[in-house]
Amino acid sequence: MLDISLPESLDAFWMPFTANRQFKAKPRLMASAKDMHYITVDGRQVLDGTAGLWCVNAGHCRDRIVDAIHQQAATLDFSPTFQMGHPGPFALADRLAKMLPGDLDHVFFANSGSEAVDTALKIALAYHRVRGEASRTRLIGRERGYHGVGFGGVSVGGIAPNRKFFGSLLPGVDHLPHTHNLEQNAFSKGQPTWGAHLADELERIVTLHDPSTIAAVIVEPVAGSTGVLIPPVGYLEKLRSICDKYGILLIFDEVITGFGRLGKAFAVDYFGVMPDLVCVAKGITNAAVPMGAVFARSYIYDAFMHGQESAIELFHGYTYSGHPLACAAAMATLDIYEEEQLFDRAASLASYWEEAMHSLKGVPHVIDVRNLGLVAGIELESIPGQPGVRAYNALVNCFEQGLLIRTTGDIIALSPPLILEKHHIDEMVERLSHVLRSM
Ligand SMILES: Cc1ncc(COP(=O)(O)O)c(C=O)c1O
Repeated sequence: MLDISLPESLDAFWMPFTANRQFKAKPRLMASAKDMHYITVDGRQVLDGTAGLWCVNAGHCRDRIVDAIHQQAATLDFSPTFQMGHPGPFALADRLAKMLPGDLDHVFFANSGSEAVDTALKIALAYHRVRGEASRTRLIGRERGYHGVGFGGVSVGGIAPNRKFFGSLLPGVDHLPHTHNLEQNAFSKGQPTWGAHLADELERIVTLHDPSTIAAVIVEPVAGSTGVLIPPVGYLEKLRSICDKYGILLIFDEVITGFGRLGKAFAVDYFGVMPDLVCVAKGITNAAVPMGAVFARSYIYDAFMHGQESAIELFHGYTYSGHPLACAAAMATLDIYEEEQLFDRAASLASYWEEAMHSLKGVPHVIDVRNLGLVAGIELESIPGQPGVRAYNALVNCFEQGLLIRTTGDIIALSPPLILEKHHIDEMVERLSHVLRSM
């Protein structure tokens, strides 16, 4: 058994994306987890409404993944993948390539979503250069986009507090407008019908800078961390066709949509729109070992495979790219996804989920509910002059009521493990509704 005694002090750990002083004054500490639940250090069961952080798609502490990690750690703990190799990442990349549609058939491994994003941006820039179009250096992101915390990801991201403390970031970046509009789209079920025209802003940006300067556009197919923004019908298709028109690469950041969240393996499958590069992380290993990856279409990989065979083609990589433990965890995770048909399961629960979430319409403070697959965003009216406080209070109260939710500003995001049962959905709605009514 692991020692889960409380630490003597909470002071030394500088917590990420957390109000440290507030948290440490009244901590919320998890001790263990199994399937749909966490157990707190004081022994309370908490229903996981967020799959950890959008990542534990197969539920917690799955024996098969635990065993795979254990065996791998005892067999080959580490081997470099720079000018060396071990079977793990080759087998995993091959399997992933077979899962992906079309010619998305090469995989570059990283250790997180942030690293996957920075890797994809670098591949895009280098791709144009190796093809003789070195003037294509601009990257286009989107307002309210979240692409992790590396300098590349923050530069193309569009969340002001994530950007404003960190200087001028990457030069040559521009942003599309976000697609969030409650006047037009409040309480939409599935994809909103209004907003495809917002993709036309890409035409304006391209005209402003000239296509010969633009390398890539990066978007989350469904934006998660900014508070669940579902793409309007036709929006992603438009982005694709404008990128095609001007020779611009389209990157989908599927860090949260990858591995079944929408009821298909990837958002690429769900929307039927093919990007040039795809970033994933989180659900790839069920979060048991950190891993990220970039999937590249064959012409991108092939563009690098020229010149002297002894020359390194891409000067990029991480010590832990294709780490043996992550590969083992990912293989076991994919086994579970396949055998339990969890992506189909997510699809078959999506309409029940939709109805349940929209039953929160009319509950105090709720000004919007939006959903797709097994994702929901519940937007609350802000307390005047205190943005984010109402949702944070809901988070604290839900945790006390035994439900883990995630909040961004005054938006609650729900994204449960795909193993959930209908009664878990009912419990989530009941507890959330109770908390909101009592606030
Ligand atoms: C769309 C998207 N991209 C990138 C990231 C960053 O991933 P990580 O926290 O693993 O670096 C996240 C994390 O939530 C994300 O939602």
